[in-house]
Amino acid sequence: MSGNEHFDLIVRNATIIDGTRAPRCRGDIGVRSGKITQIGVLEKAIADTEVDASGLIAAPGFIDAHTHDDRLLLSDPDVTPKLSQGVTTVITGNCGISLAHSPAPQHGAVTPPLDLLDSDGHWFRFPAFRAYREELEARPAAINAACLVGHTTFRVATMDRLDRAATQAEIARMREMARESLAAGAIGVSTGTAYPPAACAPTGEIVEVCRPLSEFGGLYVTHMRNEDDHITESMEETFGIGRTLGVPVVISHHKCVGAPNHGRSPETLALIEKALRAQPVGLDCYPYIASSTVLRYDRLEQSSRVIITWSKPHPEFSGVDLDEVARRLQISKADAVEKIKPAGAIYFMLDENDVQRILKFDATMIGSDGLPHDAKPHPRLWGTFPRVLGHYSRELKLFPLETAVYKMTGLTAKTFGLQGRGVLQEGAHADITIFDAGTVIDAADFEHSTRPARGIATVIVNGDIAWRDGKPTGARQGRVLQRSA
Ligand code: ZN
Ligand code: CU
Repeated sequence: MSGNEHFDLIVRNATIIDGTRAPRCRGDIGVRSGKITQIGVLEKAIADTEVDASGLIAAPGFIDAHTHDDRLLLSDPDVTPKLSQGVTTVITGNCGISLAHSPAPQHGAVTPPLDLLDSDGHWFRFPAFRAYREELEARPAAINAACLVGHTTFRVATMDRLDRAATQAEIARMREMARESLAAGAIGVSTGTAYPPAACAPTGEIVEVCRPLSEFGGLYVTHMRNEDDHITESMEETFGIGRTLGVPVVISHHKCVGAPNHGRSPETLALIEKALRAQPVGLDCYPYIASSTVLRYDRLEQSSRVIITWSKPHPEFSGVDLDEVARRLQISKADAVEKIKPAGAIYFMLDENDVQRILKFDATMIGSDGLPHDAKPHPRLWGTFPRVLGHYSRELKLFPLETAVYKMTGLTAKTFGLQGRGVLQEGAHADITIFDAGTVIDAADFEHSTRPARGIATVIVNGDIAWRDGKPTGARQGRVLQRSA
């Protein structure tokens, strides 16, 4: 050996939290060709780029377990709401909705909740998952994506009416869509049976559409049929689908909705614990007591407060409480809902103790469920990860920082089968988030919902610095990730 060892990039003097829940340690991280090639004392080594992490934590880049970023990756490749939080990988296509296999807009309007991705329909132009993936690879974003495809999207693309079960012929077409997607690199199929376009799909339809998951080792991920009075039945349905197909299941944004169901999380988490003894089960959770989705009348009575996030006919009501909308229009809340639809809303419908219990649960991953195209989005879009680190771990001491990091890195990579991600280890991909444990915190709230978080210093994606000095660098190293089952 002659001369000093050379790296593309070195992160120096970091306090390393490696994503496995192991206690933190001090060290330098050497990166070469997009991978971590050495961790230790690299005093004598030299590098093209040096990052001084003195006094800061270096963690694996965060993985957002639950997103609706399918379109954002293409339309805003900096993916600033996520990059600014230290997120380096997003799981897309949740809740049954994905851009592929794109349905044609029906009568010029996009069927809710598909309109959460694009209310105009221009982005629904991917006849197959392969086409979506190829476009994302041709025009990479700043961060990585692992993609689910949505059963609701399949239904809208396949069926003339959605208020019934699919026929055998329709099931066969949807199964072919699932197979094409998985063969082209999708990691699983999501469902959203809570929403009208998929609510009439019986369990048998879902199982038959999702058959290719068994063959490809994909995941079944679900926004369950019910998250309030019948939540346990929905959970049993989910576990049953996983057992029938022999695949892992993920329960999306686990929560107990509506005052009569507050306090039921010990019961639901015990059910998951029991299921875990027999089959792989994952779940994600966002750190807020308010949910957000399209505006629906049937959600009103479960909510103590409703804020409008967007409205196609009445954009002026974005950010306004529904009570105030009704008052200004001098009509009932029910009539106001009809008048301003299609629209989106934030619903205060959860209990803080349940949220904390679910966040703390061993198998729970952090997922934002952020809605990036809402005019006045739920603050979870910009705040989820720093809020877990700063508010729930540092301030409330709900769990140690090592656990908080694990829930947004190592656990998530393991659950979704993303090899070489979610850990700071030699040989892993160099997705690294450097933050200040003493100051990291969300700044977005329900009033100022797009304020970037504080305390995220530097974000590295596949070896390149993508976020520094409070802004994106323009690096576009994001890849489409495969699942290794
Ligand atoms: Zn959902
Ligand atoms: Cu969602």
